[in-house]
Amino acid sequence: MKPQTLLAPALALVAMACMDTSFAITKTVELPPDGIALTASPLPGYQKAQENCTRCHSAEYMQYQPPTAPRAYWDAMVKRMKVVFKGPIPEEDMPAIVDYLVKTYGNEQSK
Ligand code: HEC
Repeated sequence: MKPQTLLAPALALVAMACMDTSFAITKTVELPPDGIALTASPLPGYQKAQENCTRCHSAEYMQYQPPTAPRAYWDAMVKRMKVVFKGPIPEEDMPAIVDYLVKTYGNEQSK
């Protein structure tokens, strides 16, 4: 038997194994909780936070902050993202973002 005659069925088997999508489907269903979006708000900072704050990580990080955190804490947080992690956050958008964050995740929540 020529080596080529053995190679063809072997390749076909490998191709079949690769086309088995059951693994991929399971993966899609069990997504880690990382697609967490920012809480919707009519505040102007909501849109700006979406543009500037979910580029590197999901909104999960915001949710883990203490609900007692005051405005100064969020102000420092936004500055930290810009200065330490070099987030391209426009200076003029920062007050609106802080306002949205403290009213949505911090100690100025209305609920
Ligand atoms: C350039 C990437 C980048 C951008 C843009 C960015 N972050 Fe972050 N952020 C990070 C990194 C990296 C960490 C993880 C720091 C760590 O693990 O200590 C982080 C962590 C956090 C945390 C968790 C607390 C902490 O200090 O680690 C919060 C809250 C947070 N970011 C909020 C924001 C907000 C609000 C914005 C928008 C103003 C923002 N991030 C934009 C990179 C970014």
